[in-house]
Amino acid sequence: MLLHRYWGKNLHNYYGANCVQPVKRTFAAPYNQQNPLFSLEIESQEFSFPHQGDYREPSVSVRQQNGCTIGRMKYQYYEITDTLHIPEGLPHIRETEQKTAKTLAIHFLDTISNVKLILYYSIVEDSAVIIRSAQICNQGSQPVWVERAMSALVDTTYQKQQLITFYGTHQKEFQLNRQDIKHGIFSVGSTRGASSPQYPPFAAICTPETTEHSGEVHAFQLIYSGNHCVSVERNQYNHLRIAMGIHTEDFCWKLLPNETFQTPQAILIYSNEGLNGMSQEFHKLYIERLFSPQWAKKKRPILLNSWEMCYFDVSEQRMLNVIQQAAKLGFELVVLDDGWFGHRNNSKSSLGDWTVNAEKFPNGLTPLLKCAEENGIQFGIWFEPEMISPDSVLMETHTDWHMQINDYTPLLGRNQLVLDLTQQKVQNYIIETLSDFIKKYPVSYIKWDMNRHMTDPNSLYLSEDSKEEFFHRYMLGLYRILQELTMQFPDILFENCSSGGGRFDAGMSFYMPQTWCSDNTDALDRQIIQYGASYVFPPSAITAHVSAAPNHQTGRNIPFATRAAVASSANMGYELNILELSSEEKEQIITHLSEYKQKRELLFYGEFYRLCSPFTDNNCAWMIINQEKTYAIIYYFIREYAVSALSYILKIPYVDYQKVYVEKNTGRSFTGEELIYVGISISTLKGDFPVIVLEFNEKK
Ligand code: GLA
Repeated sequence: MLLHRYWGKNLHNYYGANCVQPVKRTFAAPYNQQNPLFSLEIESQEFSFPHQGDYREPSVSVRQQNGCTIGRMKYQYYEITDTLHIPEGLPHIRETEQKTAKTLAIHFLDTISNVKLILYYSIVEDSAVIIRSAQICNQGSQPVWVERAMSALVDTTYQKQQLITFYGTHQKEFQLNRQDIKHGIFSVGSTRGASSPQYPPFAAICTPETTEHSGEVHAFQLIYSGNHCVSVERNQYNHLRIAMGIHTEDFCWKLLPNETFQTPQAILIYSNEGLNGMSQEFHKLYIERLFSPQWAKKKRPILLNSWEMCYFDVSEQRMLNVIQQAAKLGFELVVLDDGWFGHRNNSKSSLGDWTVNAEKFPNGLTPLLKCAEENGIQFGIWFEPEMISPDSVLMETHTDWHMQINDYTPLLGRNQLVLDLTQQKVQNYIIETLSDFIKKYPVSYIKWDMNRHMTDPNSLYLSEDSKEEFFHRYMLGLYRILQELTMQFPDILFENCSSGGGRFDAGMSFYMPQTWCSDNTDALDRQIIQYGASYVFPPSAITAHVSAAPNHQTGRNIPFATRAAVASSANMGYELNILELSSEEKEQIITHLSEYKQKRELLFYGEFYRLCSPFTDNNCAWMIINQEKTYAIIYYFIREYAVSALSYILKIPYVDYQKVYVEKNTGRSFTGEELIYVGISISTLKGDFPVIVLEFNEKK
């Protein structure tokens, strides 16, 4: 059996200091009679199988044709290679030429059924990550059914750790949930066919003392965009088991002889430098090895999106005006959002009919592309390729192309149905339709939306004993489409979206380097949402727009400076009516865009650190600092004016303690040491939702 001993700070040697002392436990089933005190119930394991006396949740479960579950997987051998294990057809951590990687593969076999299990552990140079996944191979002569296949399992001892997960809704993504771990099983996940804003695939275990700046964290994220779960089990002996993988509900995979099932990869990050330390590891790993290398470090254009400006009311003349005005203000890309195709004037029609609406755009989109080119900016467009409207030509011609359970009428969500991406011809239709469109209209950017969760998870073409493969097959179909399109058009910037951050995960981020983080553009709510998203994603991956005041979602009036600061802290764009601006507003935007361009290098490539949490404080603060630690910007948002507050003291642990810094606005100098250990006092401001911006340059 493969036992788990330790996962934490680097050790040079390990002699088994923390091994479980053999103790007789009534009810424990000894694994073998020669060693009666050895029972899986009290051991920490690397992977667990059912019916062997463990009694906790197994991480893999395979049923044979005779109905029996495989019960005796035994260690066979291991191999170490100098490459990463790449799971076929799934998004993954990439190889790079600059840095080395190693993979340990551990092989198990059940000699009765001849089902094999391989556990993969990869490590990469200069990173605190372990990348885990599992493969189940049917080497027998009969089919078997994989009923559960976790990507990773970690057993450890309960030492009062706390659990961090996210919960959320549409317009309220990445809400932090930190709690004590009680006896029993706590789990979060999604059975919605998307990773979801409800419970995205992330969990972290930390000590009660862990803060943003110090303490131990063990974090988990799945590189997957479909149904998933993470469970945390604290048993009666105070063992803690954390398991992460594809959700077991509605999942069962038939494996014919010689077939293999590969789980998605789970990323395990260890940090003893608090939650910011964990985030730095995620950010670095994703920039170096998850996002497409073509885009990961590339400057992104400042875009203006038409949605909150026009909604469905787009037209050639309006967009021509928008493009010209956008170019004058300093934008670099105009995005035509929903409403440009079929006969779409609201959400009730035309998804699937990706032909230009002739009434709104009588000359096609060429005039817009030409106008953008003449004005020296780029042009991009919105698609929702995975969907079909009942009111569409596509539905008239292909009634069997959407998800549906035989004779049952499928449920609508936002008036639409989901295409059955398990069918190869449906995948091909999407690939060809988008390729043809791009060849006709060479856009620079595509926003890929997905605006409903799934019901009726079935394909008319899946056999009876493969019905529960639907959700995972859908993801494999989607990943194939994204792989083909992004390979065919590597110069197009793809932005991921699902009613905002409804499918903001590491899987989608493999194909699309940036994600529309939330349909909520209110800068007060966005502080919380972006603060949460930054636990895992770097600023370049999180898109944020300056929108109108009063805000369309909340009606709040937030000062321009705050809206600009919140958006500038991520991958910045705008979506507001630029055709009806006062001259003062125009000036504000021109100044903001030109200042942003000067700071873009820092804002984009700098290290992002959270300083003051809106989840626990009245205020919210974060900073971005360059690698040399010579230049930093701090955004301090006052969320609620407190009459009794004199000033706030903000410690800034991420500057260089040996340097001296000058604060740009006040001209005052401070030593790094002082900023780290004493903190800087921030005077409170009256009024609604102000921001205080501090800019530090190293004193020369
Ligand atoms: C979703 C997106 C929005 C916008 C609309 C268009 O809600 O998140 O940004 O594109 O769809 O219908």
